[in-house]
Amino acid sequence: MPDGQRIYLDNAATSWPKPEAVYEAVDRYQRELGAPAGRSAYREANEVERMVDATRRQLCETIGAEEPRRIVFTGNATDALNLALHGLLRPGDHVVTSVVEHNSVLRPLRYLEQTREVQVTRVGCDCQGVIDPDEIRAALRPATRLITLIHASNVTGALQPVEHVARIAKQREILLLVDAAQSLGHVPIDVRTLGADLLAAPGHKALLGPLGTGFLYIAPGVEQHLSPVRQGGTGTQSENDMQPDSLPDRYESGNHNVPGIVGLGAGLAFVRQQGIDALRRHELSLTEQLLAGLRDLPGVTIYGPSELAHRVGVVGVTVDGWEPQDLATALDTACRVQVRAGFQCAPLQHRALGTATRGGTVRFSLGAFNTQQHIEAAVQALAELAATPV
Ligand SMILES: Cc1ncc(COP(=O)(O)O)c(C=O)c1O
Repeated sequence: MPDGQRIYLDNAATSWPKPEAVYEAVDRYQRELGAPAGRSAYREANEVERMVDATRRQLCETIGAEEPRRIVFTGNATDALNLALHGLLRPGDHVVTSVVEHNSVLRPLRYLEQTREVQVTRVGCDCQGVIDPDEIRAALRPATRLITLIHASNVTGALQPVEHVARIAKQREILLLVDAAQSLGHVPIDVRTLGADLLAAPGHKALLGPLGTGFLYIAPGVEQHLSPVRQGGTGTQSENDMQPDSLPDRYESGNHNVPGIVGLGAGLAFVRQQGIDALRRHELSLTEQLLAGLRDLPGVTIYGPSELAHRVGVVGVTVDGWEPQDLATALDTACRVQVRAGFQCAPLQHRALGTATRGGTVRFSLGAFNTQQHIEAAVQALAELAATPV
């Protein structure tokens, strides 16, 4: 690697770099277009509206949604998950979730437990971080209204048996919310095959859009149960002071993050042109290289599924003699290898894995622009540091 070049392995937080077309789309919007979407009718405003519609259409096609209006733009995946949880759950409702979840699900659920008398059951996971659908089935009650499940873990990379859980949910007429923050763009997703009633995803991770982008998919009929959590201007039915009922306006009050959405359109076009299957093959081959390089290093423990087919390119490790935060700092300082250390906003997952008492893990997360050289450099850097604990 050229000296001093960043080896960015923090793609699970947000992807970097972005395709050139993303920088160009954001720049052109900011310098030349600079108009709101869905509100005015001059030339630039019309073009911006077409670009926002085109991104919505691309998202719809990418996840096999029924129609573009079922895609609601949000500020990130957290925003989409909050809309789903706060919009659906009522006092007395019971929710089943898991210890594998991110705080963007765990914290809204805690809040709803404390303030809205929502009841929550959190099922455990095995030593590789995978939940058991039978435990979900056993946790269901007459009052269960929702199952919410992560698709791929941001700690272990484990893919969860979402389709199996979806069949259980359908049999019992319970809604299923899927957190696809670490899967969309890394693995092919068809919401109807997956069985998701609601699917939340960021635009700024594997879809390669800018920060500040995300969306919620709402399956047909689910909107009848989902209240908006914000009201305000939509640019439609402006003569009326009632929130419109039509999708997506019902949930999209206020000006859009248009620079983000046009950038997301360009990122998504790049991802679709490469093909999600091809990107998955690329990321899995680098994951295999990383796992092989780390497996035999003394003092290094790897978490998550050993079989590649059951994971995405997120690899968590602990190294004897090192605090995760110190190790991450040393990796950057000594070798410009950039990773995330600690609990990765998933406290219950770390308790279940036994890594909470060690200060969490060091997480390597791969993306479309990583190369074999990046992995070689990361393995070498970790090998050197593991041999010299502080
Ligand atoms: C599994 C999971 N869910 C949700 C989120 C929240 O995503 P965002 O940063 O887009 O709000 C993350 C972020 O890392 C995540 O890993």
